[in-house]
Amino acid sequence: MVDYKKDFPILERFHYLDSAATSLKPIQVIEAEMEYYKEYPANVHRGVYKLSERATEMFERTRDSTARMFGAKSREVIFTRNTTESLNLLAATLGNSVLRKGDTVLLTAMEHHSNIVPWLMLKERVGIRVEFVELEGQSLDYEDFKAKVGKYNPKVVSFMHASNVLGTINDAAKIIKLAKRSGAITIMDCAQSAPHIKVDFSRLGVDYIAFSAHKLLGPTGVGVLIGKESQLEELPPFMGGGSMIREVSRQGFKPAELPQKFEAGTPNIAGVIGFGAALDYIKKVGFGKIESVEKGLLAYILKRARELGYIKVYSSQDVGNAVGIFAFNVDGVHPHDVSALLDEANVCIRAGHHCAQPLHSQLGINYTARASLYFYNTKEDVDALFCGLENVKKVFNA
Ligand SMILES: Cc1ncc(COP(=O)(O)O)c(C=O)c1O
Repeated sequence: MVDYKKDFPILERFHYLDSAATSLKPIQVIEAEMEYYKEYPANVHRGVYKLSERATEMFERTRDSTARMFGAKSREVIFTRNTTESLNLLAATLGNSVLRKGDTVLLTAMEHHSNIVPWLMLKERVGIRVEFVELEGQSLDYEDFKAKVGKYNPKVVSFMHASNVLGTINDAAKIIKLAKRSGAITIMDCAQSAPHIKVDFSRLGVDYIAFSAHKLLGPTGVGVLIGKESQLEELPPFMGGGSMIREVSRQGFKPAELPQKFEAGTPNIAGVIGFGAALDYIKKVGFGKIESVEKGLLAYILKRARELGYIKVYSSQDVGNAVGIFAFNVDGVHPHDVSALLDEANVCIRAGHHCAQPLHSQLGINYTARASLYFYNTKEDVDALFCGLENVKKVFNA
């Protein structure tokens, strides 16, 4: 068995079970960022000298690695700040081009705020209609999906690939096929899937996917938007400024070619280079391994939870079709108290609405506690979680 802990030294002191919020970064990623700052700290794309050329080469190497890992062309890969910015880019530019008053954008009841609020902003600005596909248990209600595509003829269908609360992996192929019935532009929020399962952009035939480097072993401040070349060509630019232009005069401008058209200003160069090292690491581990470790641990968590009478589980128990997320409540105890008590044993979990308030309302609750896994977690981390939960029960008499 490979011991990943040596690459993530913090795991020697903490049971880190909050990778859905942000993953840990291996030392290889930290070193790649440091090397940029120490050895070739120049700006990209503009310099005709060795340092800048090396920075550009390393920056573009990450774009190529991203394209390869996700089945896209390099010019289809846009670097943003995070998933949130990628989705805002789409909402804003579609709102400035194809979406008109009365057009429907169809979302799902399990979305993260990042895939709700940008569309609600567009509802205020342009007058679009925002509709939601309902749930059936911890899954989407695909009959409701079909019915809503028929009823609203949506121009855009934007959905999460995997839920950050339920863990459910949605049937992307089925959704994309349904969405295409109304000729909708399809957008997939892969923030919680890209780190855990193989996502093949071109095979899925989806128009856009978005995710964040920081949940995929990479640094914070780097996001990815991948879009079909033909779609990206049609979109107007998002932000204006340096790098995104071919030509500027006092009267107007011509945008640059893809992908620069959507990358205004100096990017997070060190972050993107660090992300390249993260992708190398992920490739070495392999998605097969990532899935098998996480599913094994999730099954073990659910078995342990079932043995306790005081825990209500909200996340999916269908391990074969879920990422490693365990959302729960301890009877009568606020999840903030659960998290604070677990912290005393150096067990890190998250408590709150996890930026999914509409989902929590649907579930009839305000908050959940959430433990989330990555391949570097072990059975010992799970045992520490349950040992801590026994303590929560004792302290609160749950
Ligand atoms: C499903 C989903 N979408 C979007 C986001 C937003 O990611 P970021 O904060 O990196 O923009 C998250 C973050 O937790 C998420 O879980």
